[in-house]
Amino acid sequence: MIIGVPKEIMPGERRVAASPETVAKMVKDGLTVLVEKDAGEGAFYHDPDYSAAGAEIIENVADLYDRAEVILKVKEPLMNEEQNKHEVDLMHEGQLLITFIHPASPVNHQMVKHMAEHGITSITLDGIPRITRAQNMDALTSMSTCAGYKGILLAADALPKFVPQIFTAVGMIKPINTLVIGVGVGGLQALATAKRLGSQVYAADIRPAAAEQAQSLGAKVIDLEVPAEEAIGAGGYALALSQERLEAERKILAEHLPQMDIVFLSALVPGKVAPSLITEEMVKSMKPGSVIVDISIDQGGNCAITPPGRTEVKHNVTIIGIKNLPGLLPTSSTWMFAQNVYNLLSYLIKDGKIVIDLADEIIQSSLTTYEGKVVHKGTLEAFEALGH
Ligand code: NAI
Repeated sequence: MIIGVPKEIMPGERRVAASPETVAKMVKDGLTVLVEKDAGEGAFYHDPDYSAAGAEIIENVADLYDRAEVILKVKEPLMNEEQNKHEVDLMHEGQLLITFIHPASPVNHQMVKHMAEHGITSITLDGIPRITRAQNMDALTSMSTCAGYKGILLAADALPKFVPQIFTAVGMIKPINTLVIGVGVGGLQALATAKRLGSQVYAADIRPAAAEQAQSLGAKVIDLEVPAEEAIGAGGYALALSQERLEAERKILAEHLPQMDIVFLSALVPGKVAPSLITEEMVKSMKPGSVIVDISIDQGGNCAITPPGRTEVKHNVTIIGIKNLPGLLPTSSTWMFAQNVYNLLSYLIKDGKIVIDLADEIIQSSLTTYEGKVVHKGTLEAFEALGH
């Protein structure tokens, strides 16, 4: 079987879907691996490393798309200006695509329909369920880990102060306070990173299990006073709160914000817009020079005035709304992503062939287009809501 790994074409995207390490594993498994020339440059993985691992380096990406049976990518298919063709049109019937498709997002609806019409089988990595058996394929978790870590480093860099307690000849400098709101995967990593830098850490989450984990990492927990039955749904995931509950939550948070130096926002209910937890008035109450990092910006943001994709200073608070944080950590994010994709690919291959088992929970929630149709539940619901 032939696997193709093109260079990512989204502007500024430095990740790639295979590392020399995963290429070596695929080759060992008997697969032929084609890697586009310079595909790993942005992540500091170079062509000679891929060649040494057994990959064939391909000059023209059109040849790679022609020959491969499986395409491994990071981001959804886009227009390839160099080829003057959309990546979907570079693909062919029966080809399998594994990548982050974000198929429910309205901007991708046309492209997803086009993939179905084109006969492409696609699997979206954002559909991998958070179940034990799929943990090593869960690229979303890997990327949230990167975002939690890098987000805190950016905040510390933007902060006009030391983070840790420092004793100097002129007196003691107090450690800063960091509050993480939404201590899921990204939030817990942010908390651990802030703690390692020497910050005092505070955490708030509506799920008691998340709050407990934060506490075990050394955080003081702010009780949001949400009853468990309103906070936790099927599979242990968080539920969207009522407007009244959200208002009460904002009130509790408002009492704490003036004491914080870094506020890290990573609250999300899967498949929903991010809960709006910080108003412009609340930002105004924060210390001059403090920093907000809002990693939920792709889902609309937890803060009402986060600039999407940018960093801006508003009311003396630096607000970071950068979207592709894992892309700022390209070697580690690529390494993790490539492992996740390799694990998923190996899971799909049985006796040397790709097997799409429609009864399998992992396939059910991630299969996006199949046999000429869009099959992804969340995407079909989004189509219906928009009257497509
Ligand atoms: P997660 O689902 O593991 O964690 C979200 C947490 O928010 C959960 O613990 C949940 O209980 C909590 N939560 C939900 N509603 C809440 C509320 N009203 N108040 C307080 N907590 C609440 O999600 P994960 O993987 O940590 O991702 C978090 C966000 O980061 C997502 O929006 C994700 O898309 C984003 N992300 C952003 C990246 C970037 O580069 N900007 C990269 C990776 C992820």
